Amino acid sequence: MKSLVVFYSRTGTTKRIGEALAQLLECDNEELVDTKKRSGPLGFVSAGRDAEAKNLTTLADIKHDPALYDLVILGTPMWGGTLSGAMRTYISANKSKFKRVAFFCTQGGTENKQLFDEMEALCEQRPVDTLAVSQEEVKKGAYQDKLRQFAYRLD
Ligand SMILES: Cc1cc2nc3c(=O)[nH]c(=O)nc-3n(C[C@H](O)[C@H](O)[C@H](O)COP(=O)(O)O)c2cc1C
Repeated sequence: MKSLVVFYSRTGTTKRIGEALAQLLECDNEELVDTKKRSGPLGFVSAGRDAEAKNLTTLADIKHDPALYDLVILGTPMWGGTLSGAMRTYISANKSKFKRVAFFCTQGGTENKQLFDEMEALCEQRPVDTLAVSQEEVKKGAYQDKLRQFAYRLD
């Protein structure tokens, strides 16, 4: 099965999971780049505001065509209880190309199923599986077991 891991990351947490997952699955990965400035305190505020308003953004060029993959695994940080604008934009533009999907997210607080429900509604299909990892688990490197189990279930 051919898989693609697609992720957005503002401060590197989701990127760490996305890259580790692509390595475990030995598959391609695509990092989404939001052309809207998201760094610093102003970027933080605009990120939260745009996420809550469910605004779309403009992404830099995409390298991989998701239509060429059997499974597209989508990863985002949780922003204001929902998904990042970059991931919302990617799903909106590409959902007709997804054969099957799986989701992962990173968050500062506790897992919130609402995020995956929203991704499911946006993709218009149920995910094969989902994985939530806290920022704390990523910082401590305490995510490997659950990531390996997730990768095993997807493979
Ligand atoms: C604008 C903004 C809003 C956030 N809202 C939430 C939230 O509602 N719940 C939560 O648990 N974490 C929230 N966080 C924390 C991030 O989800 C968390 O730090 C994540 O791991 C960051 O991933 P990244 O380093 O890949 O950008 C928020 C972070 C930002 C920047």
